[in-house]
Amino acid sequence: MRKSVIAGNWKMYKTVTEALEFFSKVEFAGKTDRVETVVCAPFVALPALVQETKASGIRIGAQNMHWEEEGAYTGEISPSMLTALGVTHAIIGHSERRAYFAETDESVRLKTRSALDHQLTPIVCVGETLEEREAGRTRELVREQVVAAIRGLSSEEACRLILAYEPVWAIGTGRSATVEDATDVIRFIRKSVADQFDQQVANEVRILYGGSVKPDNIQSFLDTDEIDGALVGGASLDPSSFARLVEVAAQRGDLG
Ligand code: PGA
Repeated sequence: MRKSVIAGNWKMYKTVTEALEFFSKVEFAGKTDRVETVVCAPFVALPALVQETKASGIRIGAQNMHWEEEGAYTGEISPSMLTALGVTHAIIGHSERRAYFAETDESVRLKTRSALDHQLTPIVCVGETLEEREAGRTRELVREQVVAAIRGLSSEEACRLILAYEPVWAIGTGRSATVEDATDVIRFIRKSVADQFDQQVANEVRILYGGSVKPDNIQSFLDTDEIDGALVGGASLDPSSFARLVEVAAQRGDLG
Protein backbone atom coordinates (compact mmCIF):
# COMPACT_ATOMS: atom_id res chain seq x y z
CA MET A 1 0.00 0.00 0.00
CA ARG A 2 1.23 3.50 -0.82
CA LYS A 3 2.07 5.61 2.21
CA SER A 4 -0.13 8.72 2.53
CA VAL A 5 1.57 12.10 2.26
CA ILE A 6 0.57 15.42 3.75
CA ALA A 7 2.88 18.15 2.50
CA GLY A 8 2.55 21.74 3.63
CA ASN A 9 3.65 24.43 1.21
CA TRP A 10 4.31 27.55 3.23
CA LYS A 11 5.12 29.64 0.16
CA MET A 12 6.58 33.06 1.12
CA TYR A 13 5.16 33.06 4.62
CA LYS A 14 6.77 32.94 8.09
CA THR A 15 10.05 34.36 9.33
CA VAL A 16 12.39 31.90 11.06
CA THR A 17 10.93 32.94 14.41
CA GLU A 18 7.39 32.39 13.19
CA ALA A 19 8.35 29.05 11.68
CA LEU A 20 9.79 27.86 15.00
CA GLU A 21 6.70 29.12 16.78
CA PHE A 22 4.56 26.92 14.52
CA PHE A 23 6.48 23.83 15.61
CA SER A 24 6.27 24.80 19.25
CA LYS A 25 2.48 24.74 18.86
CA VAL A 26 1.81 21.84 16.51
CA GLU A 27 0.54 18.75 18.30
CA PHE A 28 -0.67 15.57 16.69
CA ALA A 29 -3.32 13.49 18.40
CA GLY A 30 -3.15 9.76 17.81
CA LYS A 31 -0.86 7.70 15.67
CA THR A 32 0.46 9.72 12.79
CA ASP A 33 3.53 7.70 11.85
CA ARG A 34 1.78 6.13 8.88
CA VAL A 35 1.68 9.52 7.18
CA GLU A 36 4.68 11.02 5.44
CA THR A 37 4.41 14.51 6.90
CA VAL A 38 6.41 17.20 5.15
CA VAL A 39 6.65 20.94 5.67
CA CYS A 40 8.10 22.84 2.72
CA ALA A 41 9.35 26.10 4.20
CA PRO A 42 11.20 29.15 2.88
CA PHE A 43 14.93 28.49 2.38
CA VAL A 44 16.08 30.66 5.29
CA ALA A 45 14.00 28.66 7.80
CA LEU A 46 15.24 25.24 6.64
CA PRO A 47 18.31 24.85 8.92
CA ALA A 48 16.36 25.76 12.07
CA LEU A 49 13.40 23.57 11.13
CA VAL A 50 15.51 20.51 10.36
CA GLN A 51 17.05 20.83 13.84
CA GLU A 52 13.70 21.51 15.48
CA THR A 53 11.96 18.48 13.93
CA LYS A 54 14.84 15.98 14.21
CA ALA A 55 13.20 13.77 16.79
CA SER A 56 9.66 14.11 15.45
CA GLY A 57 9.54 12.24 12.16
CA ILE A 58 8.35 15.35 10.35
CA ARG A 59 10.28 15.93 7.17
CA ILE A 60 11.41 19.32 5.96
CA GLY A 61 11.27 20.23 2.29
CA ALA A 62 12.28 23.11 0.04
CA GLN A 63 9.89 24.83 -2.35
CA ASN A 64 12.34 24.98 -5.25
CA MET A 65 15.97 24.24 -6.10
CA HIS A 66 18.43 24.62 -8.95
CA TRP A 67 19.38 21.49 -10.87
CA GLU A 68 23.14 22.14 -10.92
CA GLU A 69 25.49 21.02 -8.18
CA GLU A 70 27.11 24.45 -7.92
CA GLY A 71 28.06 27.36 -10.14
CA ALA A 72 27.61 30.99 -11.06
CA TYR A 73 23.84 31.13 -10.53
CA THR A 74 23.27 34.18 -8.37
CA GLY A 75 20.43 33.74 -5.93
CA GLU A 76 19.99 30.01 -6.47
CA ILE A 77 20.18 27.06 -4.06
CA SER A 78 21.62 23.70 -5.11
CA PRO A 79 20.34 20.23 -4.22
CA SER A 80 23.47 19.37 -2.28
CA MET A 81 23.06 22.51 -0.16
CA LEU A 82 19.65 21.14 0.78
CA THR A 83 20.73 17.59 1.51
CA ALA A 84 23.68 18.88 3.56
CA LEU A 85 21.11 20.46 5.88
CA GLY A 86 19.00 17.34 6.18
CA VAL A 87 16.24 18.50 3.86
CA THR A 88 14.50 15.49 2.32
CA HIS A 89 11.91 16.81 -0.17
CA ALA A 90 11.65 19.58 -2.75
CA ILE A 91 8.58 20.94 -4.51
CA ILE A 92 9.32 21.16 -8.21
CA GLY A 93 7.38 23.12 -10.83
CA HIS A 94 4.70 24.63 -8.60
CA SER A 95 2.28 26.60 -10.79
CA GLU A 96 3.31 29.85 -9.09
CA ARG A 97 6.86 29.21 -10.21
CA ARG A 98 5.71 28.28 -13.69
CA ALA A 99 3.57 31.44 -13.88
CA TYR A 100 5.79 34.04 -12.18
CA PHE A 101 9.34 32.70 -12.52
CA ALA A 102 9.28 31.28 -16.02
CA GLU A 103 9.66 27.64 -15.04
CA THR A 104 9.14 25.38 -18.02
CA ASP A 105 8.55 21.68 -18.52
CA GLU A 106 12.26 21.47 -19.34
CA SER A 107 13.43 23.12 -16.12
CA VAL A 108 11.00 20.88 -14.24
CA ARG A 109 12.55 17.84 -15.92
CA LEU A 110 16.10 18.95 -15.04
CA LYS A 111 15.16 19.65 -11.43
CA THR A 112 13.30 16.36 -11.02
CA ARG A 113 16.28 14.46 -12.41
CA SER A 114 18.68 16.35 -10.16
CA ALA A 115 16.56 15.93 -7.02
CA LEU A 116 16.46 12.16 -7.53
CA ASP A 117 20.22 12.08 -8.21
CA HIS A 118 20.68 13.75 -4.81
CA GLN A 119 18.29 11.43 -2.96
CA LEU A 120 15.76 14.21 -2.51
CA THR A 121 12.11 13.33 -3.01
CA PRO A 122 10.69 15.64 -5.67
CA ILE A 123 7.07 16.71 -5.28
CA VAL A 124 6.36 17.52 -8.91
CA CYS A 125 3.35 19.77 -9.48
CA VAL A 126 1.17 19.64 -12.56
CA GLY A 127 -2.20 21.20 -13.34
CA GLU A 128 -4.24 23.22 -15.80
CA THR A 129 -5.47 26.83 -15.70
CA LEU A 130 -9.17 27.63 -15.72
CA GLU A 131 -8.93 28.66 -19.36
CA GLU A 132 -7.34 25.35 -20.27
CA ARG A 133 -9.97 23.41 -18.32
CA GLU A 134 -12.79 25.28 -20.02
CA ALA A 135 -11.20 24.59 -23.39
CA GLY A 136 -11.29 20.86 -22.56
CA ARG A 137 -7.51 20.60 -22.52
CA THR A 138 -6.95 19.35 -18.96
CA ARG A 139 -5.86 15.81 -19.81
CA GLU A 140 -3.67 16.84 -22.69
CA LEU A 141 -1.92 19.52 -20.60
CA VAL A 142 -1.46 17.37 -17.54
CA ARG A 143 -0.13 14.45 -19.55
CA GLU A 144 2.35 16.76 -21.28
CA GLN A 145 3.62 18.07 -17.94
CA VAL A 146 3.88 14.61 -16.39
CA VAL A 147 5.62 13.05 -19.38
CA ALA A 148 8.08 15.95 -19.57
CA ALA A 149 8.95 15.60 -15.87
CA ILE A 150 9.55 11.85 -15.89
CA ARG A 151 11.25 11.51 -19.26
CA GLY A 152 14.55 9.67 -18.97
CA LEU A 153 14.05 8.36 -15.42
CA SER A 154 14.64 4.72 -14.58
CA SER A 155 11.73 2.74 -13.14
CA GLU A 156 13.39 2.73 -9.74
CA GLU A 157 13.72 6.54 -9.84
CA ALA A 158 10.16 7.00 -11.03
CA CYS A 159 8.88 4.97 -8.06
CA ARG A 160 10.44 7.54 -5.70
CA LEU A 161 8.49 10.41 -7.20
CA ILE A 162 5.60 12.22 -5.62
CA LEU A 163 3.32 13.91 -8.14
CA ALA A 164 0.81 16.57 -7.14
CA TYR A 165 -2.20 17.41 -9.25
CA GLU A 166 -2.96 21.05 -8.54
CA PRO A 167 -5.49 22.72 -10.81
CA VAL A 168 -4.29 26.34 -10.95
CA TRP A 169 -7.82 27.70 -10.49
CA ALA A 170 -8.19 25.83 -7.20
CA ILE A 171 -5.02 27.17 -5.57
CA GLY A 172 -5.61 29.74 -2.86
CA THR A 173 -9.14 30.42 -4.11
CA GLY A 174 -11.19 28.45 -1.60
CA ARG A 175 -12.67 26.66 -4.59
CA SER A 176 -11.28 23.13 -4.56
CA ALA A 177 -11.80 20.67 -7.39
CA THR A 178 -14.64 18.24 -6.84
CA VAL A 179 -13.54 14.85 -5.60
CA GLU A 180 -14.82 13.36 -8.87
CA ASP A 181 -12.76 15.74 -11.03
CA ALA A 182 -9.63 15.31 -8.92
CA THR A 183 -10.01 11.53 -8.93
CA ASP A 184 -10.58 11.46 -12.66
CA VAL A 185 -7.43 13.48 -13.46
CA ILE A 186 -5.32 11.61 -10.92
CA ARG A 187 -6.41 8.28 -12.36
CA PHE A 188 -5.45 9.63 -15.76
CA ILE A 189 -2.03 10.72 -14.44
CA ARG A 190 -1.46 7.22 -13.07
CA LYS A 191 -2.31 5.81 -16.47
CA SER A 192 0.13 8.25 -18.10
CA VAL A 193 2.85 6.96 -15.76
CA ALA A 194 1.92 3.36 -16.65
CA ASP A 195 2.18 4.22 -20.35
CA GLN A 196 5.68 5.64 -19.85
CA PHE A 197 6.90 2.84 -17.58
CA ASP A 198 4.63 0.01 -16.54
CA GLN A 199 1.75 -0.73 -14.22
CA GLN A 200 4.04 -1.58 -11.33
CA VAL A 201 5.68 1.84 -11.37
CA ALA A 202 2.27 3.47 -11.72
CA ASN A 203 1.06 1.54 -8.68
CA GLU A 204 3.95 2.82 -6.56
CA VAL A 205 4.05 6.52 -7.45
CA ARG A 206 2.25 8.66 -4.91
CA ILE A 207 -0.13 11.19 -6.44
CA LEU A 208 -1.49 14.01 -4.29
CA TYR A 209 -4.27 16.49 -4.80
CA GLY A 210 -3.65 20.18 -4.06
CA GLY A 211 -5.82 23.27 -4.24
CA SER A 212 -7.85 24.69 -1.31
CA VAL A 213 -7.52 21.54 0.79
CA LYS A 214 -8.74 22.22 4.33
CA PRO A 215 -9.47 20.15 7.45
CA ASP A 216 -13.15 20.09 6.50
CA ASN A 217 -12.74 18.75 2.96
CA ILE A 218 -9.63 16.55 3.11
CA GLN A 219 -11.55 13.47 4.20
CA SER A 220 -13.54 13.33 0.99
CA PHE A 221 -10.36 13.41 -1.12
CA LEU A 222 -8.72 10.70 0.93
CA ASP A 223 -11.80 8.50 0.84
CA THR A 224 -10.88 7.54 -2.71
CA ASP A 225 -8.13 4.97 -3.14
CA GLU A 226 -6.77 6.98 -6.02
CA ILE A 227 -5.58 10.05 -4.07
CA ASP A 228 -2.57 9.45 -1.83
CA GLY A 229 -2.60 12.68 0.13
CA ALA A 230 -2.52 16.43 -0.26
CA LEU A 231 -0.24 19.34 -0.97
CA VAL A 232 -1.60 22.13 1.16
CA GLY A 233 -0.89 25.85 1.08
CA GLY A 234 -3.07 28.12 3.22
CA ALA A 235 -4.30 25.46 5.65
CA SER A 236 -0.73 24.33 6.41
CA LEU A 237 0.20 27.67 7.99
CA ASP A 238 -1.85 27.18 11.11
CA PRO A 239 -0.56 24.52 13.55
CA SER A 240 -3.95 23.13 14.57
CA SER A 241 -5.30 22.97 11.03
CA PHE A 242 -2.11 21.29 9.78
CA ALA A 243 -2.24 18.78 12.64
CA ARG A 244 -5.86 18.00 11.77
CA LEU A 245 -4.95 17.27 8.14
CA VAL A 246 -2.29 14.82 9.26
CA GLU A 247 -4.66 13.16 11.73
CA VAL A 248 -7.31 12.63 9.06
CA ALA A 249 -4.72 11.09 6.75
CA ALA A 250 -3.52 8.87 9.61
CA GLN A 251 -7.00 7.46 10.17
CA ARG A 252 -7.08 6.55 6.54
CA GLY A 253 -3.77 4.75 7.01
CA ASP A 254 -5.29 2.74 9.83
CA LEU A 255 -8.10 1.58 7.60
CA GLY A 256 -5.74 0.36 4.87
P1 PGA B 1 -3.79 26.22 -1.23
O1 PGA B 1 -2.39 26.07 -2.03
O2 PGA B 1 -3.93 25.01 -0.37
O3 PGA B 1 -3.63 27.50 -0.44
O4 PGA B 1 -4.86 26.29 -2.27
C1 PGA B 1 -1.99 24.83 -2.52
C2 PGA B 1 -0.62 24.95 -3.16
O5 PGA B 1 -0.31 26.01 -3.72
O6 PGA B 1 0.18 24.00 -3.12
